[in-house]
Amino acid sequence: MSWGIIGGTGLNQIPGLELLGREVVSTPWGEPSAPLVRGRLQGREVVFLARHGEPHRIPPHRVNYRANLWALQAVGVSRIVAVNAVGGIDAVMPPGHFCVPDDLIDYTWGRDMTYFADELEAVTHIDFTRPYSTSVREALLDALQAVNAAHSATGVYAATQGPRLETAAEVRRLRQDGCHIVGMTGMPEATLARELNLEYACLALVVNAAAGMDEQPISMAAIEAVMAAGMGQVCDILARVVSAD
Ligand code: HPA
Repeated sequence: MSWGIIGGTGLNQIPGLELLGREVVSTPWGEPSAPLVRGRLQGREVVFLARHGEPHRIPPHRVNYRANLWALQAVGVSRIVAVNAVGGIDAVMPPGHFCVPDDLIDYTWGRDMTYFADELEAVTHIDFTRPYSTSVREALLDALQAVNAAHSATGVYAATQGPRLETAAEVRRLRQDGCHIVGMTGMPEATLARELNLEYACLALVVNAAAGMDEQPISMAAIEAVMAAGMGQVCDILARVVSAD
């Protein structure tokens, strides 16, 4: 039962990861975003994948999510923490705050979002009522508590298409829909993980107030500063998650 970590924007590598090797994996769905990095974190073997490639070059709508999840499973990963930088819609989620969402709404379009599309023996529908793994969410929440990080234990993740940020009206609509955070990469990653029976949950770091939620325009420099400050904590959280059992 190996842990996989999918690193998002700002997390292309994990400091403290003792490097054991890199593996280029091909899949029936094409190439993953980057070679898989095998490493040891707190004495436990983990497999790390940079979602946007190394260097960071693949935009959210072009990530080959099917190849990424398939490759992780092919090397023996069964549990995944996906790290996502997000905008905060809810006022209780300012920059620097973590959220472990328990639900999501998918606003993306035109992405390859299923393994069950062609050459099927039977039409397949998966249950997605609870899109995230209970056990991985609990491990994340225990770790967040242990490192004393400000966080929300639930939340609804809005997955938008990107690569542009949202308009203020779009964010108002997301809020009316019941969303608390917004990002561009949470889907179809979560649903593909479920199709493969992988235990998958999201560790979201709020890096900006979503469009229109703050007087100030969204500044990339400010986002990068929050990301840089938060990623140290992300690494501590990940180390606790993988060493907990
Ligand atoms: N919107 C969408 N994706 C994001 C944001 C945002 O405000 N911040 C970081 N990723």
